[in-house]
Amino acid sequence: MSVLVTGGAGYIGSHTVIPLVAAGHEVVIVDSFVNSNAAVVDRLEQITGATIPLIELDLRDREGLDRVFATGDVDAVVHIAALKAVGESTSKPLEYYENNLDGTFSLLGAMARHGVTDLVFSSSATVYGEDAPVPYQEDYEPLVASSPYGQTKVMIERILTDVAHADPRWRIALLRYFNPVGAHPSGLIGEDPQGVPNNLMPFLAQVAVGRREKLTIFGDDYPTADGTCERDYLHVDDLADGHLAALDAVRARDPGCRAWNLGTGQATSVMQMLRAFERAVGHELPYEIGPRRPGDLPAFWCDPTRAEAELGWHAGRTVDDMCADTWRWQSRNPEGYPEQVTH
Ligand code: NAD
Ligand code: WQD
Repeated sequence: MSVLVTGGAGYIGSHTVIPLVAAGHEVVIVDSFVNSNAAVVDRLEQITGATIPLIELDLRDREGLDRVFATGDVDAVVHIAALKAVGESTSKPLEYYENNLDGTFSLLGAMARHGVTDLVFSSSATVYGEDAPVPYQEDYEPLVASSPYGQTKVMIERILTDVAHADPRWRIALLRYFNPVGAHPSGLIGEDPQGVPNNLMPFLAQVAVGRREKLTIFGDDYPTADGTCERDYLHVDDLADGHLAALDAVRARDPGCRAWNLGTGQATSVMQMLRAFERAVGHELPYEIGPRRPGDLPAFWCDPTRAEAELGWHAGRTVDDMCADTWRWQSRNPEGYPEQVTH
């Protein structure tokens, strides 16, 4: 089967390509490189031994996207492309709504015109908002995210639900990722944020490799065991496997649209993550305690039982695996991917 992966040059998309290829699918990547680098495809070809076509295209380019589907070579879509920085979305809401919503409208239009109706969508734990009880469960309502970024995920989930309700050809998976971290064990691909990392794991990795002076822990006075925030970190390769499992499941299930949490169901604190990363690196890392970051929730994790029961999927890699693999990627690629390379 031929699978179009939008955002396949990015962090999660690049890792997702690997199990899809290993399962025998032909993968085509569409990416605008707004937050990624074409160099990733050479690395993916080294890992998989397959040729992976890469089309540089903004999803909002409707004519360009029509040309991709007109080849007749797309059987299903894994829609990962989006802008994803929570803080930036607050200062640039229009950019986020336009990119994430219009990119999705354009994609859904092209899919409908070309009779492609199997879709796996990258959603996020952020759709549960501030009031959901932990562990988060898929049936929780109302979904109200607190940032424009999160709202784009809530809105797209609603749109996809309505599309599937209106037209029984559609088979759609909404995958609510928790906190994806780690890297492929080859050390060839990993997370390569532009500028100062917003997220804990890439920040820690850049401290360890000497690109940042120290980690600032955003608050140690939360109502958690050690006072630092707790999250449900999952290895990006487990998450990648979840896309393959979801694609198989939607094609085997009755038509419709269904959400699955992808997480481990375990909470790890910032301090525990720092200590695990120190184990991976082999020495202590400099840190300070700073003020809380506005908008952070004290602790959340998922109930993963629906994904385990219905997708046959389980996130089995450990926090130590996540740190060891991140460190292998970061230490072998201290500055990330080489500067923009034309594929
Ligand atoms: P990323 O930025 O590394 O990857 C996203 C990719 O999409 C990039 O390669 C970017 O260039 C591309 N892209 C963005 N807009 C595009 C457009 N209009 N047309 C074509 N390509 C476009 O981010 P990621 O961490 O890999 O996240 C992937 C997806 O997972 C996103 O939808 C994100 O919202 C979601 N998600 C991420 C996390 C996380 O912590 N990383 C958590 C939950 C959900
Ligand atoms: C984790 C913990 C920070 C950096 C974000 C998005 C969420 C989802 C995943 C897309 C928190 C602490 C962090 C630092 C720190 N993305 N931290 N020092 O905020 O749980 O989730 O990414 O959908 O929507 O909000 O992840 O990695 O930013 O933070 O102390 O320098 O690490 O306070 O407790 P978060 P994170």
